[in-house]
Formats: sequence, structure tokens, C-alpha cells
Amino acid sequence: MSAPTRIAVLVGSLRTGSYNRKAALAMKALAPPELALEIVEIGDLPLYNEDLEGEGKTPPEAWGRFREAVRGCGGVLFFTPEYNRSVPGCLKNAIDVGSRPYGKSAWSGKPGAVVSVSPSAIGGFGANHALRQSMVFLDVPMMQQPEAYIGGAAKLFTDSGVLASDDTKKFFMAFITAYAAWVAKNAKK
Ligand code: FNR
Repeated sequence: MSAPTRIAVLVGSLRTGSYNRKAALAMKALAPPELALEIVEIGDLPLYNEDLEGEGKTPPEAWGRFREAVRGCGGVLFFTPEYNRSVPGCLKNAIDVGSRPYGKSAWSGKPGAVVSVSPSAIGGFGANHALRQSMVFLDVPMMQQPEAYIGGAAKLFTDSGVLASDDTKKFFMAFITAYAAWVAKNAKK
């Protein structure tokens, strides 16, 4: 059997009790053996500023660490909260950092997918699609179906952080299984 494809998992929330992080960990536990999900941390990335890199300059170490981590993976899976109907700034910053230097984007061609998680009923629909908009420009083939707008997040997890309902578990399993097929079909040559 060949080695599993490493998947960079980005969680767009920095808070300790994040539902999105819990969802990412639950998905990781349900992933088929073809995929190895690895959370790539984004909380230490300085805000993107073009003045900090370019000829003769040494960009922040955390940017380099992040770009290399994404480049080393064969796909990218986002878990995003919705902030004011869009993606949180920390996640947009990570997307921007990974997209530069110009012409050397870490995202290009990597099969992607997005799960939005929110306590509200709409399930982060706005953030989910705002993220897809950036991915069009960054040439990330995003899985279309199944879509994952996870609402009612406050009731999804037990006190120990595992998924409380079998239905949610089944949906997560279907989602990550479809994503494994998407990665196999769209693997970057
Ligand atoms: C929110 N929240 C929120 N929820 C939502 O469904 N749509 C929205 O537009 C917003 N806007 C928003 C803005 C800001 C600045 C904050 C801090 C929060 C609520 C949000 O869904 C909630 O805090 C989630 O728990 C965030 O996800 P994590 O941190 O649990 O992963």
C-alpha cells in the first residue's frame, strides 16, 4: 500500500474551545487510510505585509514554516467559522501568506474542501462561499459535493469533544470519504 496523502488542515479559529477545531479533530479520526490529516497552525503568522519580503529581505520565520508545511501536503482542508458573513481574519491572513511570493503560491493545484461550522442555523454558509471565492483565484480545485454547512455546533459535541450524534458522524464519514476520492482524482501532477 502506498503512503497516505498528507492533507493540510487549516482551522480558522484561534480560541481554545473552538467548535471548528473539534470538528477538524473528529474528521481526522474518521479519515480513511489513504489520507493523513495534519493541522497546520496559523495563529502565529504575522499579518501579511509585502514590505517584509523581497530582494535582500528575510521574511518572518513563521511564514516560511507555514508555506513549507502546505507545500509538503497533497491537499488542503479548511474548517472555518463565519465572522460577519465571511472568513475570520486569521484564516484570510493564512491564505494570503500562502499565496506569496508572487508566482510561488503554496496553494496552486492542491485539491481542496471546506467545512464551515457555526452555532447558528445557517452553518457558516457565507464564510464557506467567501473562502471558495479566494480558492477560484488561487487555482485550488474545491470539492463541490457534499457541501458541509454545519449548524447548531453548540450541541454537536460531548463534554470530551467527540461527536455526540451518529447522524453527524455518518455525515462526516461521507464527507471525508468523498474528499479522499476527490484528492485521488485531482492529485497535482
Ligand atoms: C461571530 N459569529 C458569527 N456566527 C455566524 O454564524 N455568522 C456570523 O456572521 C458571525 N459573526 C461573528 C463575528 C465575530 C467577530 C465573532 C467573534 C463571532 C459567532 C461564531 O459563529 C461563534 O463565535 C463560533 O463559535 C466561532 O467558531 P469557533 O471559534 O467555535 O470555531
